[in-house]
Amino acid sequence: MTTMDLEIANARYAGLRWNSPLSEEHADDLIRRLDISPSSTVADLGCGWAELLIRAVTPVGARGIGVDIDRNALQRGREAAEVGGARITLLEQEASNYRDSADRVICIGSSHALGGTSAMLKRLAEIVPQGGRVLVGDMCWESAPTEEARSMFGEEIPTLHGLVKRCREAGWMVLHLATADQREWDTFESSHRAGLREWIIANPRDGKADEIRAQQDEREDRYLTVYRGVLGFAYLVLSR
Ligand SMILES: C[S@@+](CC[C@H](N)C(=O)[O-])C[C@H]1O[C@@H](n2cnc3c(N)ncnc32)[C@H](O)[C@@H]1O
Repeated sequence: MTTMDLEIANARYAGLRWNSPLSEEHADDLIRRLDISPSSTVADLGCGWAELLIRAVTPVGARGIGVDIDRNALQRGREAAEVGGARITLLEQEASNYRDSADRVICIGSSHALGGTSAMLKRLAEIVPQGGRVLVGDMCWESAPTEEARSMFGEEIPTLHGLVKRCREAGWMVLHLATADQREWDTFESSHRAGLREWIIANPRDGKADEIRAQQDEREDRYLTVYRGVLGFAYLVLSR
């Protein structure tokens, strides 16, 4: 990877606090509902740069383990954890290879890393002992999808009710349920592009600037014409 490629890779997520449509206030509420104690072990499967995990474990002094396959993201997380003094270990490995148990698990936007929604819910029930809690963030249809939306996101996306039914099938009870609101989505989508757009502004004559700009514009078009208000994102705190 060239220095410029690394700069572009880092810029890609630079505008995001975390990689899901989630406000800080909403995140605080979800963390509180996880009811983490100092003796808890919190695993985050598909943690990205682990910002939510760091915020979840640091105030209570709990232990955190984050797993992801993105080396750059993990490095960003390690640097943030060091600054904040978090007791976390970030492992570069497949989420499906996570073998330990944990009394709290976070899996947000990463169900694909465990084989899809139903397989993820089943696997979390093996990792978390009875009485434990999980925080899951997953896609669902907010309103009836068009054919274009279906072909973009696949046939596996459930309605919110369908997602809750999949939780029940895996033995989970819903303690809390909320979907990302429009402002969280708009902030997420804009922030997803902000890092690279700032890179383009700083490097207007770079050979990759036009290509990246076209990609960003295409994603913005798709958001505005295909899935804004159609694709939803649900956060569920589950126990059993
Ligand atoms: C949409 S991001 C969500 C990241 C994080 N949970 C958050 O909310 O900021 C999905 C993450 O899953 C990770 N991922 C994808 N496949 C994976 C796998 N097989 N094992 C572990 N992580 C994986 C990606 O690298 C990415 O960081």
